[in-house]
Amino acid sequence: MRVAPRSCVRRDGRPFEIGSAEPRDIGRLLDQLVVARTTDPAADVPDPDEVSITVQAVASMTSELLESSNGVLLVARAGDDLLGSLSLRGGRYRKTKHVAKLGMRVDRGVRRQGVGRALVEAALDVAQACPLLDIVTLEVFSSNDAALALYEAAGFVVEGRRAGFVRQDHGDDDVILMSRRVATT
Ligand SMILES: CC(C)(COP(=O)(O)OP(=O)(O)OC[C@H]1O[C@@H](n2cnc3c(N)ncnc32)[C@H](O)[C@@H]1OP(=O)(O)O)[C@@H](O)C(=O)NCCC(=O)NCCS
Repeated sequence: MRVAPRSCVRRDGRPFEIGSAEPRDIGRLLDQLVVARTTDPAADVPDPDEVSITVQAVASMTSELLESSNGVLLVARAGDDLLGSLSLRGGRYRKTKHVAKLGMRVDRGVRRQGVGRALVEAALDVAQACPLLDIVTLEVFSSNDAALALYEAAGFVVEGRRAGFVRQDHGDDDVILMSRRVATT
């Protein structure tokens, strides 16, 4: 989906904008995903040396989600800077197209400034307005306190837990399954 940009403000008063990712964002999205793999290895499954992120993969995700009728790739931009991104991927088939899976990240240098919350709020507004979507779902690791707090504050509830499913340097994490209903009926 393509959504109209919305104006937002960081906690320190600096403005930014959230809108759907366009082809012009591909380079900066790639940079952010590559950096995230090395700076936030505990928030992602593949390690940097296991899967490389290519410009083709980012370009294809961007165009796929722009054309999707039940998915969106949102970016938070401030001038030339990409502050963060959020993907909502709706199910491909008739039996699952009412469910979209959320994934996100905010640039390490601008965390705790309200960018993550603004991205989640924008995504939930998009999902609420999308007639195909009833449920937004996500998976988060049990040691990811920041993301857990953000999602709980946004109304996501824990639906299940896969104990010890992720082997981290600090020990095994659980994968926590969360979801939030967005259907209006
Ligand atoms: C999780 C993440 C997206 C949060 O983004 P952010 O822009 O820093 O979040 P916000 O500033 O909008 O914070 C919103 C709320 O989230 C919670 N939160 C954010 N960072 C937190 C932290 N370090 N510790 C505890 N709670 C935190 C708080 O409830 C916060 O509200 P408050 O600041 O009023 O207390 C960011 O830390 C990130 O990109 N992490 C790495 C990637 C990742 O974990 N993605 C999610 C995978 S499921």
